[in-house]
Amino acid sequence: EQMPLQVDINGTVHKLSIEPRVTLLDLLREQLHLTGTKKGCDHGQCGACTVHVDGARVNACLTLAMTTEGCKVTTIEGLSEGGHDATARLHPMQEAFIKHDGFQCGYCTPGQIMSAVACIREGHANSPEEIREYMSGNICRCGAYTNIVNAIIDVKQ
Ligand code: FES
Repeated sequence: EQMPLQVDINGTVHKLSIEPRVTLLDLLREQLHLTGTKKGCDHGQCGACTVHVDGARVNACLTLAMTTEGCKVTTIEGLSEGGHDATARLHPMQEAFIKHDGFQCGYCTPGQIMSAVACIREGHANSPEEIREYMSGNICRCGAYTNIVNAIIDVKQ
């Protein structure tokens, strides 16, 4: 049975009809085609699906979409200012990941960046050790961890 859901995603209010068991990750990717948020493990182990709900980071694969009623969800698509055309500006964290080679294959990158932004916002970027601890839920199979930490330190300064 479908249930109504009203949620702000990247600044646009969506009035949706969804099945109660649908995760936020599947809502974003399959119903709204916001495929920047990645599905790695689908059970809370990898961080590829990290988004912000009312500013707090969550694993979208562990979040039922229904629980975001009335919330503001931000995905990697909504992080930068402006639109998706040539006038769009990258978020400073996106710029820093490019500058510091904070990725190789790129699959984990949207989740890494959403966590990295939350890391600074929540005050957990005071040392490389603290950053590594906060970011430990975001797995990078290419091993770009050192560069990711450097990108976060750069933005923090
Ligand atoms: Fe959600 Fe891996 S897909 S944590």
